[in-house]
Amino acid sequence: MTEGTHSSQPAAGARVLSGMQPSGDSLHLGNYLGALIHWVRTQETYDAFFFIPDMHAITVPQDPEELRTRIRRTAAQYIAGGIDPDRSTLFVQSHVPEHAQLGWIMTCLTGMGEASRMAQFKDKSAKQGVDSAGVGLFTYPMLQAADILLYQPHGVPVGEDQKQHVELTRNLAQRFNHRFGETFRVPEPMIPADGARIYDLQNPGAKMSKSASSPNGVLNLLDTDKQIAKKIKSAVTDDGTEIRFDPETKPGVSNLLTIYSALTGRPVAEIEAEYQGRMYGHLKVDLADIAVERLRPVRDRAEQLLDDPAELDALLSKGAAKARQVASATLAEVYEKVGFLPAH
Ligand code: TYM
Repeated sequence: MTEGTHSSQPAAGARVLSGMQPSGDSLHLGNYLGALIHWVRTQETYDAFFFIPDMHAITVPQDPEELRTRIRRTAAQYIAGGIDPDRSTLFVQSHVPEHAQLGWIMTCLTGMGEASRMAQFKDKSAKQGVDSAGVGLFTYPMLQAADILLYQPHGVPVGEDQKQHVELTRNLAQRFNHRFGETFRVPEPMIPADGARIYDLQNPGAKMSKSASSPNGVLNLLDTDKQIAKKIKSAVTDDGTEIRFDPETKPGVSNLLTIYSALTGRPVAEIEAEYQGRMYGHLKVDLADIAVERLRPVRDRAEQLLDDPAELDALLSKGAAKARQVASATLAEVYEKVGFLPAH
């Protein structure tokens, strides 16, 4: 993983952990370029844990059958995107009850003020009105802190938008350690330098997100070749004609350059030079081809995996057993430290 401005690189052999919400039928290009491709790289050097935060997904209403399907679809996309379940520990959050148990302790450790400052809550509750937002949406970052701290990771590979949650996690770990004695490792956010923030193709002022107002601005990993090409070719560009990376005055073109660079591994400056004197249309046509070629095998593999849900479920329960070994040891220590009586 390339080092971002606010992140540091744990040593080889260290542990990393991350997750993506199963709140849509497909992950999107922001999830892929901001997180998944970096997770895949971490497997080579780190002891990696990747999970599906299904308990986070129910902070907003979900249809039960749809949620079950989406959890499997998310797992399939992790694997199709390159997560190797033999190498990494891959599991579903609700299969490991220690997440909810430590989540409560983290909630009790958090101040109302610091919880109120979390941007994700502000954004999501603003959409539906604070009074009708579920309390789970408010306590969500404390559950996320528990997700992380249970596994004592050194690093948390996430996109830029999750930085604030990792900061809260660090504060809570330090607070707990200070109050009850050294217990948690204080994890570092690992934020990629490229692709850390992918913007909506129709509204490049907003980050690409499952809750976007227009589906055309969100490129899904499981979109067909035709849909991918169409969404890129109809992406909003800016005034003028010059292909130049300048997020302030050219947010649309800059986003396309970021995507191009993240998909090909080529520096933005090199791409700018190649397209000097050419039109936006050329850039879009080429990028559409690149994205189609890159995403097709991911979609094909995910579909193959989804044809055998029993096999997928077996993989996930094996992962949960491994995860529980680590999580239960941390929770036992925490329960003892906070002063709970042993259960036996
Ligand atoms: P989520 O599900 O919104 O996003 C999953 C990952 O994708 C990244 N990401 C993006 N990166 C670049 N550009 C974008 N437009 C973009 N949109 C999303 C996110 O930064 C993230 O890395 N709260 C988390 C899920 C979570 C979690 C955790 C993560 C729950 N517990 C513990 C790490 C550790 C979330 O909602 O991510």
